[in-house]
Amino acid sequence: MRTQVGIVGGGPAGLLLSHLLHLQGIESVVLERRSREDLETTVRAGVLEHGTAGLLNEVGVGERMLREGSVHHGIELRFDGRGHRIDFADLTDGLSITIYGQQEVVKDLIRARLEANGKILFEARAESVEDPDTDSPKIRFLQDGQQEEISCDYVAGCDGSFGVCRTRIPENARTEYTRTYPFGWFGILVEGPPSTEELIYTLHDRGFALVSTRSPEVQRLYFQCDPQDDVEEWPDERIWDELSTRLATHDGWELAGGKIFQKDIVQMRSFVCEPMQHGRLFLAGDAAHIVPPTGAKGMNLAVADIRVLAHALTEFYRSEDMRLLDAYSETCLRRVWRAQRFSWWMTSMLHRFDRSDSFQLKVQQAELDYVTTSRAAATTIAENYVGAALGTSHPL
Ligand code: PHB
Repeated sequence: MRTQVGIVGGGPAGLLLSHLLHLQGIESVVLERRSREDLETTVRAGVLEHGTAGLLNEVGVGERMLREGSVHHGIELRFDGRGHRIDFADLTDGLSITIYGQQEVVKDLIRARLEANGKILFEARAESVEDPDTDSPKIRFLQDGQQEEISCDYVAGCDGSFGVCRTRIPENARTEYTRTYPFGWFGILVEGPPSTEELIYTLHDRGFALVSTRSPEVQRLYFQCDPQDDVEEWPDERIWDELSTRLATHDGWELAGGKIFQKDIVQMRSFVCEPMQHGRLFLAGDAAHIVPPTGAKGMNLAVADIRVLAHALTEFYRSEDMRLLDAYSETCLRRVWRAQRFSWWMTSMLHRFDRSDSFQLKVQQAELDYVTTSRAAATTIAENYVGAALGTSHPL
């Protein structure tokens, strides 16, 4: 089998790359280890930056997002029993975010690719990338118990943090930067009415909590937990008690209940691999970097990488000009590190680290007081959250 661009991984990064290349007349094959159903039903992130939603619209896959997604113009930061709104529209000249689940983006992209006769191989497990430093790299994969090989001009490693692509960059050419946090997020999905119109991020003595949503009928809630916790240790009643305690306000705000239909624990980690390319192999999304979810940046960074990569590949096929491809890693890493900084900062400000360190808590509360009362400080949250302050934007 042969194609122009071999794409390992059928998440938002791999699928979007395949779609953008197709719009430029460039052929690709996507290899995805999971089944289509699995991909379309796993609940992950849900916040799209202004530019991410804009890109999906611009390239013709935003129609359902416009109908079913929900546009938010601000978030609430809650501490000391009081809520404070960060008004994105006011602070960033009208920018917003869109709440639309990652699995919905994936569904829309799969549909668009299949309608255009795009090639996605599901349940095809990539085993290795061969010869990335020649002009004919290959991907070895297993499908239906058969060893297969696909040769291509370029390989895009969109296979997440546990994929095979990153490790293909030789160890002596690669630097990895990691920070792990001493807590996780306990996440639940709830069938029930919304408690709030906008997301609420809260810091309480007992730790962080977040009220988010997926649709008018499904709410997504999180609270800081021990990373070693087991979902079995958290019966529904204990979860509602913890969330109500952390989210309580002096004026008696109430959390709407409902039926919990999923519980999971998310680990918190910051990670960057430098460089993001080796020969003709290019990493994008979680394969190259992980952010803790507090800044809502994960899927947006993946989309931003792909915007750069699709443009660089298009330039190569149009004019054999390698300059944008050569600069790929450097171009992406600037945005990646700015998003890392924002995600690390939001995480540091909003979580309890050492429960006995009351000085630390007081400083965090003072920082929240500052960002919710100074227009200059509030703007730093708003412009990072909507994605306007994360580096240069790139043409398609
Ligand atoms: C979510 O809805 O899953 C979500 C929202 C905001 C975050 C993280 C996750 O910062």
